[in-house]
Amino acid sequence: MRGIMEQTRAKRTAPETRIILGITGGIAAYKAAELARLLVKQNIGVRAALTEAATRFITPVTMQALTGRPVLLNQWDCAENGMAHISAGRAADAIVIAPATADFIAKLAHGLADDLLSTLCLARDCPLLVAPAMNKQMWENLATQRNLAQLAADGATVLGPCSGAQACGEEGMGRMLEAEELAQEVAEFLQSNKSMNAISPTPTLPRRERELVRHSDERLDGVKILVTAGPTYEAIDAVRGITNRSSGKMGYAVAQAALEMGAEVTLVSGPTALEKPHGTQAVDVISAAEMFEAVKQRVADADIFIGVAAVADYRVAQPSAQKIKKGEGKLTLGLLPNPDILAYVAGLPQPPFCVGFAAESENLRAHAAAKRAAKKVPLLAANLAQQAIGADENELILFDDGGEHLLPRADKLAQARALLRHTAKLYRQGKPR
Ligand code: C5P
Repeated sequence: MRGIMEQTRAKRTAPETRIILGITGGIAAYKAAELARLLVKQNIGVRAALTEAATRFITPVTMQALTGRPVLLNQWDCAENGMAHISAGRAADAIVIAPATADFIAKLAHGLADDLLSTLCLARDCPLLVAPAMNKQMWENLATQRNLAQLAADGATVLGPCSGAQACGEEGMGRMLEAEELAQEVAEFLQSNKSMNAISPTPTLPRRERELVRHSDERLDGVKILVTAGPTYEAIDAVRGITNRSSGKMGYAVAQAALEMGAEVTLVSGPTALEKPHGTQAVDVISAAEMFEAVKQRVADADIFIGVAAVADYRVAQPSAQKIKKGEGKLTLGLLPNPDILAYVAGLPQPPFCVGFAAESENLRAHAAAKRAAKKVPLLAANLAQQAIGADENELILFDDGGEHLLPRADKLAQARALLRHTAKLYRQGKPR
């Protein structure tokens, strides 16, 4: 009796979706353990496949314990009728290689099959996702870039990498996405793949082409994005001013995420202490009037406008060129409203796709929805000011015609990437192909 109940329970909870998690030999292999744990938690069945080099970084026992399934290691193993390279792949809805080393990417790009994992990839009948992880010089090497372009052209989905501190002590592009981000990406991919298959069980497009379409939807290659970031500073006199509390971290993260997705980014920034993301066209401004001018000059060229800046709502009517001397009596400052840059851009006859931000201290949902309607922007990202300002992490709610989308608490770069993916999707939907 107990046996039947257990079987029934096992049947009910058995994962509907299964992936092969391919792990290759890089230091980021330790993150694959957490990735497996997060995927299993989402009821995605995971079978790990390790290359020989990967076993130098993480043990098969760890992966077996986390996935609850035997690990695929060796193509000469006689279990599964000696056909693991075929049978394991057939049972999978996707193969995810994380980390994917430069060497393994080169093998995939050239169709080499000299171990179990590369053979599984070559013999697969399901989508392939790769999360590159390597030193920045290896990443920038033309051979690697050529191989990745080939993989993408063959229909693979490339997740990341991102820029940051590297195990070798250097700093730059090539760091594997964090496990949480990868888990989210993989889950979203499997979900949308499933709905695609459900909508079109006999797809009009071959699978490879459908993968390519999906991949290109998530890229912003050559798309021109204009971003405002940071605070503005409105002078009262030679030494004093009015400003908003804003570190610029979110706007800079948005610029960085857009660059990673292949966009051409112009960053119009108020005063911040941050370094501009490498590769942006940077324009430094101080006041709202200067930011407005900088945007007006460049907006005709922009496909997407993202207003992240905390623009001061008022400026001083008559700022003094000299320092105002302290007196005994009251000092009254006359203030004039500043132009609303986002509303101006959204109101242009042929506006770029506009994304606004709202930092509210209360009634987040109501204020954000009202702001989206008032400024007539298709997408608005809202957060609570007291949680967001100056912090490295943030929780965002996206408002669009489809409703609300929560981006749970994560660091600002992860949030920016998720926001840009959402933006890319809506931008593509509004554009004829
Ligand atoms: O300040 P407020 O909450 O209205 O900001 C909402 C959005 O409008 C943000 O995206 C901000 O960058 C933009 N904005 C602007 N110009 C202003 C005020 C706000 O572009 N003068």
